[in-house]
Amino acid sequence: MRGSCWWLKLNRRAEHKFRQLLISSVKSVKIKLLLCCCIAFTLFVLTGKASAFVVWSNQNPVFTPYSPSRKGYSIVMNTWKRYDLLKQSVKHYASCPRLESIHIVWSEPNPPSDFLLKFLHHVVQSNSKDGRHVKLKFDVNKEDSLNNRFKEIKDLETDAVFSIDDDVIFPCPSVEFAFDVWQSAPDTMVGFVPRAHWEHSSVGDGDKFQYGGWWSVWWTGTYSMVLSKAAFFHKKYFSLYTNEMPASIREYVTKKRNCEDIAMSFLVANATGAPPIWVKGRIFEIGSTGISSLGGHSERRTECVNRFAAEYGKMPLVYTSVKAVDSRNVWFW
Ligand SMILES: *[C@@H]1O[C@H](CO)[C@@H](O)[C@H](O)[C@H]1NC(C)=O
Repeated sequence: MRGSCWWLKLNRRAEHKFRQLLISSVKSVKIKLLLCCCIAFTLFVLTGKASAFVVWSNQNPVFTPYSPSRKGYSIVMNTWKRYDLLKQSVKHYASCPRLESIHIVWSEPNPPSDFLLKFLHHVVQSNSKDGRHVKLKFDVNKEDSLNNRFKEIKDLETDAVFSIDDDVIFPCPSVEFAFDVWQSAPDTMVGFVPRAHWEHSSVGDGDKFQYGGWWSVWWTGTYSMVLSKAAFFHKKYFSLYTNEMPASIREYVTKKRNCEDIAMSFLVANATGAPPIWVKGRIFEIGSTGISSLGGHSERRTECVNRFAAEYGKMPLVYTSVKAVDSRNVWFW
């Protein structure tokens, strides 16, 4: 009896040990399985990401948030006796994907020469990409006035106008991005060159407002205008500028040969009650003899701001510090 009992005990012990062995081996299998799952999952995520990345980068990098049937934009370019700059600018912009037409605002006493016309038409045709046909039109004005650049254009097919000087060049991706921003806020002026008006705390006999150039905008990060030398806006503002805005402002602009861009900023701000939008973009200045490089520029601009505020009977400009940035070009989120 004792013997069998001992044997039984031994047997139980072995069974117990065997069970323990079994359990531990099951445990290790479980851990191994878990490890495998982890590795598989990591691999899956990595390859998934990689393949998704490949798909993304294979796609056309030009992002079109709207259906392609939607109209593009027109360029309205102000120029003055700088044919080499004009040729360079027209040649560059003709290659931008969603550009429909280029309108050149011509205010010189002599109309454009046949040679220039032929040359520009040729340049536009040879630089239009993907079989598109970008139209080129000259708007010849008799009077030499800065208001000409905001005259109504009868055959303008697009709502979006990109107003530009002939001496600044923006790469097409910058222009197209600004166009995207404009499409999400079509009443707003969307541009690359921000400026501000500063209010004096001590109001004396002199000017109440001061025009703030690039440095003050850079320092404060705040602005209230974008200049029409490089800005998108709706074509309806052409007719507002020419027909609705007080004539005294247009006369002032003609007489002083300055500030048509400030006048347009006032007009849009008064119509919308909202600030413009500054878009980040690369700028290449190809000319160096603009108005802004002449002496006394800031004083004259300050005079304009005060004059226009008096005409409106208030200050319509609104401050903002918003800047639109293409998030694909931002490295760190
Ligand atoms: C400013 O906007 C108001 C309201 O839209 C309008 O009645 C007024 O005529 C505008 N002022 C000017 C000078 O355009």
